[in-house]
Amino acid sequence: MGPGGARHRAPEDLTREAILADYRRKTPRSAALYARARASLSGGTTGNLRHFSPYPVYFAEGEASTMVDVDGNRYIDCFLCNGPLLLGHRHPEVVEAIHDASPIGSLIVNPQLAVEAAEQLQQTVASAERIRFLNSGTEAVMSAVRVARAYTRRPNIIKFHGHYHGQDDQFLVGLGPSAEPFGAGVAPASHANTLLLPYGDFPALETMLGSRTDIAAVVLDPAMHSGGLWGSATPYLQAVRELTLKRGVLLVFDEVITGFRLASGGAQAVHGVTPDLTTFAKALAAGEKLAAVVGRESVMRCLDPERPEGTPAVFQSGTGNDGTSGLAAACAAMRTYRNLHKNGGYDRLARQSSRLAEGIRAAFRAHAVPCHVNQIGPMLQLFLTDAPASFARYAAVPTGALALFYLALINEGVLLSLPTSNHIYLSFAHTDADFENIIRAVNTVLTKYDIRCLVHAENSRQGEMR
Ligand SMILES: Cc1ncc(COP(=O)(O)O)c(C=O)c1O
Repeated sequence: MGPGGARHRAPEDLTREAILADYRRKTPRSAALYARARASLSGGTTGNLRHFSPYPVYFAEGEASTMVDVDGNRYIDCFLCNGPLLLGHRHPEVVEAIHDASPIGSLIVNPQLAVEAAEQLQQTVASAERIRFLNSGTEAVMSAVRVARAYTRRPNIIKFHGHYHGQDDQFLVGLGPSAEPFGAGVAPASHANTLLLPYGDFPALETMLGSRTDIAAVVLDPAMHSGGLWGSATPYLQAVRELTLKRGVLLVFDEVITGFRLASGGAQAVHGVTPDLTTFAKALAAGEKLAAVVGRESVMRCLDPERPEGTPAVFQSGTGNDGTSGLAAACAAMRTYRNLHKNGGYDRLARQSSRLAEGIRAAFRAHAVPCHVNQIGPMLQLFLTDAPASFARYAAVPTGALALFYLALINEGVLLSLPTSNHIYLSFAHTDADFENIIRAVNTVLTKYDIRCLVHAENSRQGEMR
């Protein structure tokens, strides 16, 4: 007990309470909606990431780079529904395309729009010789590896630590440095054909491919986004391409994150490496539901009922594959991405994003709070540590202080990331003023709340536990 009987409060507790009190004051309708939602939606939201403490913000609408919550507060949105909204909310050309296509009905079999969307994809991504549309990124990667297994007649795939490929059980291993399945309910048999390797370690890949003849494909996310946004070195990707060709193993780029985001032609255009198969989702339809697996005609032929004799027949289906709004939105989005590519939009956004990363680094430096920022194109991730940067080390950095930092930014009108995710995305809708306001909000949070003491307390707790 302190003087006068008041209980002594640790500075980190006072900081946490101040952030939470301001959050509760700002978002009472979200608090009420959360209490109501828990009685119907499991966990009160539609996905694990969307739930954060003390309760999630519920949003009412979005426009360009901003969203408005159910209390009427406006936020600069840098989460963009976990990436799809690369053109921002309700991009006029996307809205118009969906509106114009609506007389077709929401779903018809074999729509002309599917042909038009596939032709747009061929014009946008050089390796997209043939295309199959699907509903989600998860389905696209599942189909890609099924095709690869059929084509090569081999059972196993190589997946890298720190690479996320959707929620199918075969991919829910090695999301961090350990081989443990991610979450409960993942049967060992479901990932028995998933072989894990460290990313960037070319000799390890060479050894595995040299010693086994049962590997169908190497699957990778060129940004290594889920593992901390560590990206890929072009020479490494080139070497992986050469090696896989030599061994008759297919190379699958999962461009669900990097597709249309790093360049209109995706990470494969940036690195100059052509995979056999590629998966797209998220930005493909600018927020509407659509995904795709694309690739070499000779491989994609496994999905063609008129395939030459002897070609393996791969089953692939999906009730919503022909969805009108997804296909219409994708056509408009891909036209827009190509125009942005032509008029320097991608370079501009990359420059704005670098300046934002630098502004965040400078703000943390000025407040003597350790912070490392990874940035690739219009994507950022933060790590509140001064440890030397590496995937394995940073996977162990505690995230409680960072979550409170993101919550404090919500108090200042910036949804930089959901506190549970650490995914920051910038869009073509963000203005120079937005970027300045984000940096201003970061400085305000670091001035108003003692984030430094949160970081120190968390690090010393972790040190004690070791
Ligand atoms: C690289 C990557 N692949 C696949 C997926 C799965 O996509 P979806 O959530 O559409 O199933 C994701 C989702 O975040 C992803 O980041």
